[in-house]
Amino acid sequence: MPEGTTQPFVTHVLKAEKIVFSEYDHHIQRRLSAMKGQYLDQAAYQALLAREDALLYEVYEMRRPEVPGELLFGLSIVHPGIVGQEYFMTKGHFHTVLETAEVYYCLRGEGFMVMETPEGECKVEALRLDSVLYVPPRWAHRSVNTSSDTDLVTFFVYPGHSGHDYGSIEQQGFRKLILARDGRPEIVDNPRWHSPEKRKK
Ligand code: 6PG
Ligand code: NI
Repeated sequence: MPEGTTQPFVTHVLKAEKIVFSEYDHHIQRRLSAMKGQYLDQAAYQALLAREDALLYEVYEMRRPEVPGELLFGLSIVHPGIVGQEYFMTKGHFHTVLETAEVYYCLRGEGFMVMETPEGECKVEALRLDSVLYVPPRWAHRSVNTSSDTDLVTFFVYPGHSGHDYGSIEQQGFRKLILARDGRPEIVDNPRWHSPEKRKK
């Protein structure tokens, strides 16, 4: 599909063992090495990385001009796995243009969306088959797969000019973490998180 095409186009969600688009022109693969410093248990992270640079998640997108009025959409596939007590998760990001929202529709699996504003307000929403999640403007978002054997697959759509700010999250992390306790997910405070006020000092 030539970029910038102004013609309507169709792609299909193929729900086989792996959910993919019949047509896409951008495929991102994020591995454990891309999550340096993001996992609480750094020893477990290093030990796992020493064994294998595991594939944590993939994104399939149809490229569109990144301009207001266009919508970017795709599939986000977080694979099952665990690092210490923490589940496989996406990097997480604010949109560079903070005043841009996003909609997620869960096509498979179970997990959570961890969200946070620049002021430190946080919210964690459960995702399961057919959940439709609205991420309002100004809320950073990270998908967490809490299944031990099934991909967490979501269809997402967001404004073309949003952009991605990963730096803020890489520096400060999210206020909440999802840990596996007795085989079940538990939402806990991130001991490494500092309030915006404290960060400024
Ligand atoms: C976006 C969406 C979504 C997200 C993926 C991967 O703004 O593009 O939120 O596509 O990028 O779920 O997550 P990360 O961008 O945090 O790696
Ligand atoms: Ni986003």
